[in-house]
Amino acid sequence: TVLVVDFGAQYAQLIARRVREARVYSEIVPSTMPVPDMLAKNPAAIILSGGPSSVYAEGAPRLDRELFEAGVPVFGMCYGFQLMATTLGGTVDNTGAREYGRTPLHVSKSGSTLFEGTPDEQSVWMSHGDACSAAPEGFAVTASTDVVPVAAFENDEKKLYGVQYHPEVMHTTHGQQVLEHFLYRGAGLTPSWTTGSVIEEQVAAIREQVGTKRAICGLSGGVDSAVAAALVQKAIGSQLTCVYVDHGLMRKGETEQVEKDFVAATGVQLKVVDAEERFLKALAGVSDPEEKRKIIGREFIRVFEQAQAEIIADAGPEVAFLVQGTLYPDVVESGGGTGTANIKSHHNVGGLPEDLEFQLIEPLRKLFKDEVRMVGQELGLPDEIVQRQPFPGPGLGIRIVGEVTKERLDLLREADAVAREELTAAGLDRDIWQCPVVLLADVRSVGVQGDGRTYGHPIVLRPVSSEDAMTADWSRLPYDVLAKISTRITNEVADVNRVVLDVTSKPPGTIEWE
Ligand code: XMP
Repeated sequence: TVLVVDFGAQYAQLIARRVREARVYSEIVPSTMPVPDMLAKNPAAIILSGGPSSVYAEGAPRLDRELFEAGVPVFGMCYGFQLMATTLGGTVDNTGAREYGRTPLHVSKSGSTLFEGTPDEQSVWMSHGDACSAAPEGFAVTASTDVVPVAAFENDEKKLYGVQYHPEVMHTTHGQQVLEHFLYRGAGLTPSWTTGSVIEEQVAAIREQVGTKRAICGLSGGVDSAVAAALVQKAIGSQLTCVYVDHGLMRKGETEQVEKDFVAATGVQLKVVDAEERFLKALAGVSDPEEKRKIIGREFIRVFEQAQAEIIADAGPEVAFLVQGTLYPDVVESGGGTGTANIKSHHNVGGLPEDLEFQLIEPLRKLFKDEVRMVGQELGLPDEIVQRQPFPGPGLGIRIVGEVTKERLDLLREADAVAREELTAAGLDRDIWQCPVVLLADVRSVGVQGDGRTYGHPIVLRPVSSEDAMTADWSRLPYDVLAKISTRITNEVADVNRVVLDVTSKPPGTIEWE
């Protein structure tokens, strides 16, 4: 394992992903973890991330010198580089010499482990205020910029390396190469971590955890739950039962994808609950977005628990596990616990105990989203599931501005299907993060079609590009694709006489309309 020590800001996750792209397994630890605890994890190498602090700021995170004396190869980046410099006796000045953004780097390669085979001049991404003016004793200076005399250094004998810039961001042209030089040449690691090895390891771990007991998994139609279920299915086969609640708020073809394609690909035992009527009844007369979300969430839990109770009633108390598609970013962001949490599920169904305790199986806890997709692919899941864009749990229920009815849902489903078809046909699926299609059910406008006046509803297209859904920009889709979608929707979907494009970024707009 390569440990990535997180000094804050958003860099650690990106570094961990880049290490894994080099096919070496990596994990993130907080910079507050005591050095002996880090070393107890027996890391093959340690990377110190960048961070927002100045090494001179009061309360800035520090590192114990023993980290550099344990014989473990260390690579410091940005803040990690400066920390390494000051801890080992180099000089970092608060010179006011700031560098932000793309910066030319001058490399002196002779004998350098990190820079071998890379150009003498390369473009790197900088983001710092303080600057290193003298490397610690025993270190060779291997790069500089116009502003910073020491922009990279290394002590090959002690296996200590550092760069002032961010090798992990894509604007740094040779960043991945430099990182790989550290991993393979500096730390002597071999690229052996693959999704195949993840599957093997998880299958063995799940078998061991579950033994002869049984597990339940809720399928949502999304990537995470599908891949988690497929992995558990591979491990314990018929000891797993999946539950799919059809709330009637899915897009066209999605329920069939789960019922047919997913089952065909995995052979999983699936219990489908058709709860459309129940959801529609609960949503009748409700227009307020928060109210809708609450109702959908509440009904979902009730239906799921009912299904769970039926499975338990059939199978008996040996149903002890619940599968969850938790991903690594969630684990890191919630403080990186060790995953032993038990969750309680409350039951009011006759004959069952009040509280059933399940243990969690979370086979994706160590994976990033793109790795989950690769695992899904390797497990033979269809592309439509593995490459699916994000879709909210409350489904089309929060894409109808106004009351949710069966007729409106059917109409929106048609419009959404047209948009998705055309985006796919234009090869744009990978360029956009997602494209909500929204029905403004409470708005009507006048139009003309054939010889007649129409008084119909607008459909909103909301294509966005994003990294993580926290912020987003509207996607500049080609006009001809937009034209085609607009023409088809107004021609093919009854009651829709206008298609509009949402050109708001997030913030201030959210991605969804409700
Ligand atoms: P917003 O609208 O907040 O959406 O910009 C950010 C991302 O989250 C998705 N989203 C949800 N996903 N349950 C979910 O599982 C929800 O209630 C929910 N609401 C929004 C949205 O599609 C976007 O990807």
